[in-house]
Amino acid sequence: TGSAVQAEKHDDFVIVGHRGASGYRPEHTLASYELAARMGADFIEPDLVTTKDRVLVARHEPEIGGTTDVANHPEFKDRKKTKLLDGVAVTGWFTEDFTLAELKTLRAVERIPAVRQHNTVFNGHYQIPTFQEVIDLSKRLSKELGRPIGIYPETKHPTYFQQQGLALEPALVRTLNRNGLNRPGAKVFVQSFEVSNLKALHKELRVPLVQLTSASGAPYDFVVSGDKRTYADIVSAKGLREVATYAAGVGPSKDQVIPLDATGKLGKPTALVADAHKAGLVVHPYTFRVENSFLPADFDSSAVASDSGNLFGEIAAYR
Ligand code: G3P
Ligand code: CA
Repeated sequence: TGSAVQAEKHDDFVIVGHRGASGYRPEHTLASYELAARMGADFIEPDLVTTKDRVLVARHEPEIGGTTDVANHPEFKDRKKTKLLDGVAVTGWFTEDFTLAELKTLRAVERIPAVRQHNTVFNGHYQIPTFQEVIDLSKRLSKELGRPIGIYPETKHPTYFQQQGLALEPALVRTLNRNGLNRPGAKVFVQSFEVSNLKALHKELRVPLVQLTSASGAPYDFVVSGDKRTYADIVSAKGLREVATYAAGVGPSKDQVIPLDATGKLGKPTALVADAHKAGLVVHPYTFRVENSFLPADFDSSAVASDSGNLFGEIAAYR
């Protein structure tokens, strides 16, 4: 449908290592991505933000107070600021205020130590990777593991960065071009919550794009432009047909696919998957992880013997 690059059709699931194997290593580190690939992920998923000198690096947020040791660096004490990030006041240190060389002096720490205490033993071990380093890793692991390890980059807060004269799109396109990855058949998906960003990328990229949606709210670029549509509108049958004009897939929050009922059990599936398939879109829901507690109370997790029992159990329950 439309003119969007079509995603390869899969009969089965694709497994995306969300922020790497983030239940086992601090997220968005090369160690986390590598472990995800070794655990069987088809893709590794870097969230992308930019440095002051326009280098794409992997962090979930521009603010890095909780995911690096920046607070322990007296030389960066004065960089602490309060900024409006997608309309919300956030205090901390922001990647766009650091050069790549400065960011490389920092080390990653576990974002949610209370939940992932085991990960804190790796605090201080790993640098913030550049997007190029993530691509290099995927190439090396593809050779070593004998199967293609894809990349599934997400542009984070593109309007926020654009407003500061640091648009993510040109750097993303340049990096994919430089690596021979901007072509049909490359094992690459590019995803974003923002619509205008994906539409702009659609003109430049020959890899499939994925429109992310959330269970509530609206894309920030819609808020800025005064577009009144919400994520709920985007996942309506009509909205999905529009998505298919610039993207090959939709990445909904999993509770937009199967909501929980009042008792916390999996409820009835919505029409999202059928509507998306009708529009010619693949569906890549997020996020299944060990610490989620969305399993139905009566789910038999003894059937899935693994230290990741909850994770695989949860996937099995949804399946
Ligand atoms: O793949 C979708 C997912 O990455 C979006 O969630 O964790 O980046 O906020 P997140
Ligand atoms: Ca992401």
